[in-house]
Amino acid sequence: MDDKKEYSKKVLVAGATGKTGSWVVRRLLHYKVPVRVLARSEQKAREMFGDTVEVVEGKIQDPEAVRRAVSGCDAVISALGSSAVSGEASPSEVDRDGAIRLADEAAKAGARHFVMVSSLAVTKWFHPLNLFGGVLSKKLVAEEHIRELFAANGRSYTIIRPGGLKDDEPLQYRLHVDQGDRLWNGWINRSDVAELAVLSLWVPAAANKTFEVVVEAEEPQQSLAEYYAKLS
Ligand SMILES: NC(=O)c1ccc[n+]([C@@H]2O[C@H](COP(=O)([O-])OP(=O)(O)OC[C@H]3O[C@@H](n4cnc5c(N)ncnc54)[C@H](OP(=O)(O)O)[C@@H]3O)[C@@H](O)[C@H]2O)c1
Repeated sequence: MDDKKEYSKKVLVAGATGKTGSWVVRRLLHYKVPVRVLARSEQKAREMFGDTVEVVEGKIQDPEAVRRAVSGCDAVISALGSSAVSGEASPSEVDRDGAIRLADEAAKAGARHFVMVSSLAVTKWFHPLNLFGGVLSKKLVAEEHIRELFAANGRSYTIIRPGGLKDDEPLQYRLHVDQGDRLWNGWINRSDVAELAVLSLWVPAAANKTFEVVVEAEEPQQSLAEYYAKLS
């Protein structure tokens, strides 16, 4: 497993102007991967990334914009997230229907790999987080769609279910990964979620994995690639 392997195909980041998505862009650029972003505001994307990325302006509700965004991309990383209980940034519109539209158009356009940033507790409909527009249940519907669509026809997926998200530099903590949605709490830096998402592009053990991830201890890491080897 080598996290510095040459990978030079184009990757689309949806939700790139968000807190996790902007880390995904930064980590992709760190590995010299060509990046396209789908952003609701081109101006916001340009302010954040300058000319280092291609920008397609559009909402995730707009099939035409989504089609233009995925065209020619080898992989898609979705860091989309809802921020309102109703309207265009709601869990139904973004976490469920938006993620599904993105996956459908990516598969149609020939994308090889799809990464979704989901959430811990996504299978627990009774979890308090689900009071926010049923966000966990909406994410689970999208997860199931992506697993089915991207496990076939030479495609692959990686679904990352992080704990509560914080903002700090990557590779500062030893992580704990689990499967089966058994963890009840924990947190992780968005930068480490981004790093795991990016590594999944070329780490073979990341293919077709769904896993939870939280911080275990303060301990600088050389690479996060080894965590994929722990998954079944
Ligand atoms: N917060 C937590 O503790 C936590 C814990 C576990 C999992 N998660 C999940 O992790 C993911 C990333 O979280 P985050 O806090 O980094 O997210 P965030 O900063 O809120 O970013 C969300 C992104 O989605 C975009 N977006 C929203 N509605 C859109 C639409 N209709 N069309 C196109 N783009 C749209 C936003 O665009 P704009 O920049 O234009 O607003 C933004 O780029 C989310 O799925 C979240 O549910 C969060």
